Amino acid sequence: TIGRQQSSDDGSFVNRMKNGGRQIVIFYGSQTGTGEELAGRLAKDAHRYGLKALVVDPEEVEIDEFPRIAEIENSLVILCMATYGEGDPTDNAQQFHEYLQSGDHELQGIRYAVFGLGNKTYEHYNEVGIYFDKRLEELGAERVFELGMGDDDGNLEEDFMRWREAFWPAVAAKFGWEANETDGSERQYRLEIVEGDVAHFKGEVGRLGSFEKQRPPFDLKNPYLATIAINKELHASLSDRSCRHIEFDITGARVRYEAGDHAAVFPTNCSQLVEELGKLLNADMNVVFRLINTDEESSKKHPFPCPCSYRTALTHYVDITSPIKSHVLKALAEYATDEAEKQRLLLLSTASEEGLKEYGRYIQKERRSIIDVLREFPSCKPPIDHVLELLPKLQARYYSISSSPKTDPGRVAVTAVVLRYGIGDRLIKGVCTNYLADKLPSEDPAAAPKIPIFVRKSTVRLPHRTTTPVIMIGPGTGFAPFRGFIQERAHQKEQGKEIGPMILYFGCRHRDHDYIYQDELEKYVNDGVLTELHVAFSRHSQEQKVYVQHKLWENRQTTWDLMEQGAHIYVCGDARNMARDVQAMFIKIAMELGGKTEEEATKFIKELERQKRYQADVWS
Ligand code: FAD
Ligand code: 2AM
Repeated sequence: TIGRQQSSDDGSFVNRMKNGGRQIVIFYGSQTGTGEELAGRLAKDAHRYGLKALVVDPEEVEIDEFPRIAEIENSLVILCMATYGEGDPTDNAQQFHEYLQSGDHELQGIRYAVFGLGNKTYEHYNEVGIYFDKRLEELGAERVFELGMGDDDGNLEEDFMRWREAFWPAVAAKFGWEANETDGSERQYRLEIVEGDVAHFKGEVGRLGSFEKQRPPFDLKNPYLATIAINKELHASLSDRSCRHIEFDITGARVRYEAGDHAAVFPTNCSQLVEELGKLLNADMNVVFRLINTDEESSKKHPFPCPCSYRTALTHYVDITSPIKSHVLKALAEYATDEAEKQRLLLLSTASEEGLKEYGRYIQKERRSIIDVLREFPSCKPPIDHVLELLPKLQARYYSISSSPKTDPGRVAVTAVVLRYGIGDRLIKGVCTNYLADKLPSEDPAAAPKIPIFVRKSTVRLPHRTTTPVIMIGPGTGFAPFRGFIQERAHQKEQGKEIGPMILYFGCRHRDHDYIYQDELEKYVNDGVLTELHVAFSRHSQEQKVYVQHKLWENRQTTWDLMEQGAHIYVCGDARNMARDVQAMFIKIAMELGGKTEEEATKFIKELERQKRYQADVWS
């Protein structure tokens, strides 16, 4: 949170509710900002009933106070809780989660509703939202509206819109709240233009000046500015895609990591798009400004680091490329001077069947950003500061680290496919991968690009014993963490340690296009570090796709033998299909060679997961 305020409530959120005359408190569990954004939108909705809501980051309050909410008459708790990874709460909701799990808190008198954010490609769909919804009831709180669940793999925005549309009238009826004239679209921040020579942010994430004067520890709020040591193409010239091997120099940064950890990268938006958006908004991009929360009790004084210039805000702080959210469309409608454009924007932002359908098609499926919309609705000229208030924050992207510190503690490598795809006549480029793609090393330190990064610990680790067999399944960039694992074992071997079997299943389209790190892999086989290398080429023959799981099946006897010897299994890469299909193959192998029924085999794999002998590091 930026610009935390001093106030006289001793940090107690319940006191803050009482002092500010607030009946509604909204907690969010958010990893990438969506949960937080939905919480903010619900808080605005409350204005329609003449009510004030307090938005709370559970990590920043004394959560033991939770039962005291019941002291406030006619109060309502709303929870926007995201599920992350293997059914885990987000980092900021961990304490809250533990608090509810432990002990028998008395929550009588508390009324609540939960909206969960999840992703159906993952096994533990919305587990955290489901848990909070159930647990609060068990502890005596009263559910006033049914659990809502958003699917980020489908259309989370639509799921939220539907839930919210039904939620407010239902709770208003229950609490006796009357809707007023306001529609919840009033401004949350006021604009202040900063003149003269005032120190301002230039892309720093936390502390002003932190890019000039770097101070460890480096984390989400304080990234390290790494120079690029290597940035090279991994695909052959025949490939129509690009995959980069990038090494960040972290010499002397006191940044430590282990093979299996993730590197987070803070990208900036493409400067062409930034300038185009500035033009569409008729903005003077050099103006330095602040956005100041009109709610003085809020712990969030500014939406992002302020003061900064409009150019800096559009470049570093807000997301200008993802599909535009419906509440932004609604705000835009107010600025459209052409009546037909206004009506269309209103339709796109309405939770009616037709509105949701059009939103799903025109915005979500065809991925129209704020820029696309302003291009296509030329009469709509909103002030830039209002747009900046409404857009989601630009998020750091995570990458599996594809190196081991044992090889070189001064380097962090990542392996990233450069995301580019066409929809109609629009070419859409992924923000972070295209930002990284042309950040080339430079001999001249002054000209060398510097990338804000930090390391995020993961739980995916090689087994402690160097002799334990390891089976790694990583098609495409899913191979990334395994490069670190292989380097680790190669290092152990060089040290004279005995190392166990290490088997890699890699998959790509063509041998001659996207077989990344082929030379390295073949060398590790020759050196005896990789005991087996199986590569599935999916588009090599016309007849049938060969995937990693087919190769696993071919080698089912060895696989099963190693599993019986206590092998650790790792699956990394695509969460949507690959991880599920590979798991199904392991179940099939356990049935075929272990003589198990499907149910037993499924339980067996679950047990391996529990013992951390089957670990997945997947993303969608
Ligand atoms: P963005 O601008 O964020 O765009 C991505 C979005 O575009 C996606 O959300 C998707 O909805 C959409 N999209 C993508 N393709 C299409 C399409 N064809 N049609 C319509 N919409 C589409 N990536 C790697 O390359 N290597 C790694 O090692 C790696 N490790 C990861 C580890 C973890 C734990 C996680 C969470 C992710 C990892 N990723 C990895 C993914 C990475 O974080 C980024 O999501 C990815 O690089 C794209 O980022 P971007 O900013 O370039 O794209
Ligand atoms: P495809 O794109 O030809 O379908 C890395 O992306 C490799 O993973 C590619 O060869 C890709 O094949 C393959 N792949 C796609 N879907 C998969 C799945 N469900 N299981 C395993 N591999 C898959």
